[in-house]
Amino acid sequence: MTHTHKRIGILTSGGDCPGLNAAIRAVVSHATLSFGWEVLGIPYATQGLLDRKAVALTVHGLDMRGIDPLLSTGGTILGSINRGPTEAHAGEIVEGYHALGLDALIGIGGDGSLAILSQLAEQGDWNFVGIPKTIDNDVAVTERSIGFDTAVNTLVEALHKLSYTAASHDRVMVVETMGRDSGHLALHAGIAGGADVILIPEIPYTIDGVRQKLSELRDRWGHRFAIVVVAEGAKTLSGESRAYTDAQGEIRLRGIGNYIADEICRYTENTIEARVTVLGHVQRGGIPSAFDRVLASALGTAAIDLVAEERFGHVVVWQNGEVDNVPISEVCAKSPTYVDPQGCLVKTARGLGIYMGELNASAIPPLVGSIADAKPPSIVS
Ligand code: F6P
Repeated sequence: MTHTHKRIGILTSGGDCPGLNAAIRAVVSHATLSFGWEVLGIPYATQGLLDRKAVALTVHGLDMRGIDPLLSTGGTILGSINRGPTEAHAGEIVEGYHALGLDALIGIGGDGSLAILSQLAEQGDWNFVGIPKTIDNDVAVTERSIGFDTAVNTLVEALHKLSYTAASHDRVMVVETMGRDSGHLALHAGIAGGADVILIPEIPYTIDGVRQKLSELRDRWGHRFAIVVVAEGAKTLSGESRAYTDAQGEIRLRGIGNYIADEICRYTENTIEARVTVLGHVQRGGIPSAFDRVLASALGTAAIDLVAEERFGHVVVWQNGEVDNVPISEVCAKSPTYVDPQGCLVKTARGLGIYMGELNASAIPPLVGSIADAKPPSIVS
């Protein structure tokens, strides 16, 4: 196959995460070194297309004395946005692709961004290829999304540090993780970080279940400290999660860590002392892990291979330790994906004696998005 000159656009959309720059680097390297193509970085995702803005990216354009910082830096050099221009601008965004003279566009995004970009691609007849990223790891059909592994490692490091201060003071440390409606982050970090309790949105919990676990640790094993990992979207048996409405009117999951800690103290009549750590956006930062760099490099180069084969409308994914690709419609139809309450890692956690919520309780459908009137701070049910 001969490869005529192409101009490839690349953008990052949605929440940032470690490994985005490594993916950009892989795309630029493979496109320019293997095919001699031109790569344009589109700043701030669809906003850049709307504004007709683009910057030429070259392999050695950003290095420092030959050291390439893209492989090892967090964030995204292209900038990103969570809330793009409104639908009213869709036509202009679609035209931005053609105005910039792009032959193909590579979009790195989570489930929401990939769905929006795929709609725009269809509307504007774009040659589009997607790359999955998100610390939530909830993009369907890929076992791993860029950023997840680093976020898990960040949490595990925090849990390790917290264990020592918890043990010194005989305290319960409650650690609130991100993850939105999915519990992948909390589940992986909790297992790897030695948690005693892991609460995730997919498996309802009761405070009595948490208390029983803490009592068992104390009465049976003499352990006077414990680590409780709780995902921001965790829910009680009656479907309550914690959320508040921010100044922009957006409903945000927050407050579950403090709620659980207070409930533990109340339920145990203050015989247990609890402290809360909310790592928040620390989970989105940091140096990408080795795995995230490998994943980003593999997915980035595979995306360029799809462009070379002119197989558009696909997302590159990670399955069984290898890169594959699937139609974007399949990914969008199945995303987001949640922890399987009967799955192997939940069994692993329970096998380790971790309290993971109520056995046999069926998963409660996610509430976020359907909540119209959360107020600060509130119980959402
Ligand atoms: O989807 C990634 C994520 O970090 C979620 O885990 C979290 O709920 C959300 O984004 C936070 O979004 P923002 O950066 O807009 O506060």
